[in-house]
Amino acid sequence: MSYIFNLVYHDAAELGTAAASYIATTLGDAIEVRGAASWCVAGGSTPRMAYETLATAHADDVEWGRVSIWFGDERCVAPDDDRSNFRMVDRALLTRVPIALPDVHRIAGELDVGAAARAYDAELRSFFTGAELEPSFDLLLLGVGSDGHVASLFPGRASLNETSQWAVAEPEPGTEPRVPRVTLTPPILRRARKVLFLVSGTGKRKVTHQVLLEDAALPASAIRGLEQTLWIMDEDAAPT
Ligand code: 6PG
Repeated sequence: MSYIFNLVYHDAAELGTAAASYIATTLGDAIEVRGAASWCVAGGSTPRMAYETLATAHADDVEWGRVSIWFGDERCVAPDDDRSNFRMVDRALLTRVPIALPDVHRIAGELDVGAAARAYDAELRSFFTGAELEPSFDLLLLGVGSDGHVASLFPGRASLNETSQWAVAEPEPGTEPRVPRVTLTPPILRRARKVLFLVSGTGKRKVTHQVLLEDAALPASAIRGLEQTLWIMDEDAAPT
């Protein structure tokens, strides 16, 4: 049985606080049950406050040494480029909590996009050994674009219909920054135990409305958690 919940908070700051608390609890629950937690993080800008709150208010609530970090997508730039998703998450969270570097599985954005996608696909498969029919991430965090994209799965693109590869190249993303991307695909994103969507701002209100009505054309409508899907949004992003 999979449940879908929506929570609306007053503003982006409250959204960040609520998301950080949910993430800390979810990672803790996974560690309690399975001894470890796998968390696929999102780039973009919305989750930054949640990452920073995790690094401060929840630094001692999570056994970071038992958490592995994965990325839902990456822009093909160097890891210290200010467009890099890794750089954002690293600065907001990863360098501020005791997480071991081998447990941070970044996408090699500095490589050619095809090579980076193949390398990440292989890394995922070696981690989730023999897990084709099993759940993947304990927690998958996703932002949503105003066109309904998640990770770098854009509406109408071939990557949305991918059935075998877990990470593929998106050479021409439909939004800024228009650098090639590596994105995870539905075959792995749809195997997460819990999915958390974070959405903020009036620019997202229309798409939030469409996704909650399950508009099948939108990539965000295609991703659900095996156990639970939670949408956390602020009042500006919530459909009226
Ligand atoms: C990226 C993403 C992308 C992002 C959404 C929402 O690399 O840009 O991972 O899917 O999460 O575009 O971005 P915001 O949070 O900035 O609105």
